[in-house]
Amino acid sequence: MNILLLGSGGREHALAWKIAQSPKIDKLYIAPGNAGTCEVGENVVLKADDFEGIKQFVLSNDIDMVVVGPEDPLVKGIYDFFRDDAQLKGIPVIGPSKAGAQLEGSKDFAKGFMQRHGIPTAAYQTFDGEHLAEGLAFLETLQPPYVLKADGLCAGKGVLILPTLEEAQLELKEMLGGMFGQASARVVIEEFLSGIECSVFVLTDGKDYKILPEAKDYKRIGEGDTGLNTGGMGSVSPVPFANKAWMQKVEKRIIRPTVEGLAAEGLDYKGFIFFGLINCDGNPKVIEYNCRMGDPETETVMLRIKSDLVELLEGVAEGNLASRTIEFDPRSAVCVMLVSGGYPGHYEKGKVISLSDERLKFNDEQVIFHAGTALNADGQVVTAGGRVIAVSSYGKDKAEALARSFSGAQQIQFEGKYFRRDIGADLEG
Ligand code: AMP
Ligand code: GLY
Repeated sequence: MNILLLGSGGREHALAWKIAQSPKIDKLYIAPGNAGTCEVGENVVLKADDFEGIKQFVLSNDIDMVVVGPEDPLVKGIYDFFRDDAQLKGIPVIGPSKAGAQLEGSKDFAKGFMQRHGIPTAAYQTFDGEHLAEGLAFLETLQPPYVLKADGLCAGKGVLILPTLEEAQLELKEMLGGMFGQASARVVIEEFLSGIECSVFVLTDGKDYKILPEAKDYKRIGEGDTGLNTGGMGSVSPVPFANKAWMQKVEKRIIRPTVEGLAAEGLDYKGFIFFGLINCDGNPKVIEYNCRMGDPETETVMLRIKSDLVELLEGVAEGNLASRTIEFDPRSAVCVMLVSGGYPGHYEKGKVISLSDERLKFNDEQVIFHAGTALNADGQVVTAGGRVIAVSSYGKDKAEALARSFSGAQQIQFEGKYFRRDIGADLEG
């Protein structure tokens, strides 16, 4: 079969790497892809949210399935675009409908959904600009720190955690005053939860689901979880505290009610659900939903799926996921992200990357996933984003996988390269 994968980051390279291993694949295209995805498939010059362009490409290249990496095309309704088009409606899109993607596209919708289905999450209230006074008064009833979330998509920047009431009240005014444009026309104010976070993923066909390997990501730029938030500096799978007993709680209290809730509300959802969880004294609570895989979690999760991913995606498309099996690789996997100097602030692009050891590209123990790379006019791989390369490794345990990733991280060179040396250090095992 022929698959078109949409997106261009490390997540998409990892998905492409896994999809390309399937014996069912004839052709894999990635739109737009990066300098790494073209090693496992063919890049196509198309933006992931150019629906008309995607339609033409799908029809002229006999595409049998579209897999959507990032949230943007989903929130904009690519699933609905295919479903409602006479020529495209037989071609499955792996990802939720526009209505289902509201789990990520609107924090207020997600909170309301959890409330309706009794799914554990932080207590909250939502305010718009006409209810600023009530929002300011609500903040006074909470304990610090204060959590403010813009309702809509803000490229990962819409969550503010403020230490004092004064700052929280000031930021609430700014957010409702248009700080993030339409995305912060409504703001969710919620209770602060403390605990360790863990990302849990499922694939669902709308009725049944398969739980994928869990992972922990590292969002802050600095070691010891300090400094600004990034798109993710590394990930580790498995997560020691996500043991069988904890995952049973997650499944019973969170995963099952979510999948059943989507069906009960008539929300068409055939794709990945990402549960951003926090472990509060042994009890999992939902921090956020995403309607796609995580990045850089995918760069470890794909290493730990032993089964054929395309076989599972077919189960989603055909609505018979229950009859498919998923097997995990028992080894540990870790990913260390190499980023451009200055990221997540200003950084330069176009720096030549040397993958000093060819063997590093793909071997039994390590995979180099490209995140923000491109080919320059001379055919050299150059930096093209803040997050540049994900060095993902297997190990018999976390320590061995980490040692391999750090060694790979040292061997890959580009001007301004930075990576966190404490990935996984907070986890036992
Ligand atoms: P979100 O975009 O909702 O995942 O929020 C970004 C990050 O903010 C999360 O990964 C958490 O680290 C943190 N965060 C969000 N909500 C809360 C909360 N209620 N309590 C504590 N931390 C939170
Ligand atoms: N790693 C978090 C995310 O993908 O949003």
